[in-house]
Amino acid sequence: MKRILRKTVYFFTLLLIAGFPPEISSAHNEQQHHVHGSTQPAPASTNPLIEEMTALDAAFRDIVSAAALGDTEKVQGAIESLHGAMEKTREGMRAGTVTLPKNAARTKEFTERDAKFHEKLDALDRATRRKNQREMLRITKQLLDGCVQCHQTFRK
Ligand code: HEC
Repeated sequence: MKRILRKTVYFFTLLLIAGFPPEISSAHNEQQHHVHGSTQPAPASTNPLIEEMTALDAAFRDIVSAAALGDTEKVQGAIESLHGAMEKTREGMRAGTVTLPKNAARTKEFTERDAKFHEKLDALDRATRRKNQREMLRITKQLLDGCVQCHQTFRK
C-alpha cells in the first residue's frame, strides 16, 4: 500500500516538474519544438513552406561547410534530409495553407523557382557522387544565389 502511494506521489511530482497534464503529454513529442519557450501561436509549425525553409537553412549550412572540406557524405546526408519538403510546400500552395508574403499571385513562378532550386540540389548530389569537389563548390555558390533571388521576390 505504502509503495503504491509513494509511486503515485512520485508520478504526480514528475508530472508537476514536466509541467503538463497526462492527456497532453502524449501529443507533446510532436509539439514540444514549437510550444516550448514561445508565446507565439502555432502557424510556423503548420506552414510547410516555413518547414521547408527551416530544413533548407540547416541543410545548407552543412552543405557549405562540407563542400568546403570535400566531405561528400555529409553533403549527401544534408540533401537527403530535404526529401519531401518541396512536395509538401506544393500541396500547401494548392490547399491554401501556404501563402507567399510578397508577390503572392506569382505562384507559378514560385513553384518553378523552387523546382529549379531542387534540380540544382540533384546536380549537387550527382557531383558529390562523382567526388567532384570543384563542381560541388560551383553548384553550392549557385544555390546561395537561388536562396537570395527567391527571397528578394517572395519574402517580405
Ligand atoms: C523558391 C523560393 C525560395 C528559395 C529557393 C529559398 N527560399 Fe527561403 N524563403 C522563401 C520564402 C517565400 C520565405 C518566406 C516565408 C514566409 O515568411 O512565409 C522564405 C523564408 C526563409 C527563412 C525564414 C523562415 C522563418 O522561420 O521565417 C529561412 C531561414 C530561409 N528562407 C532560408 C533559405 C535558405 C538558406 C535557402 C537556400 C539554401 C532558401 N531559403 C531558399 C523562399 C525561398
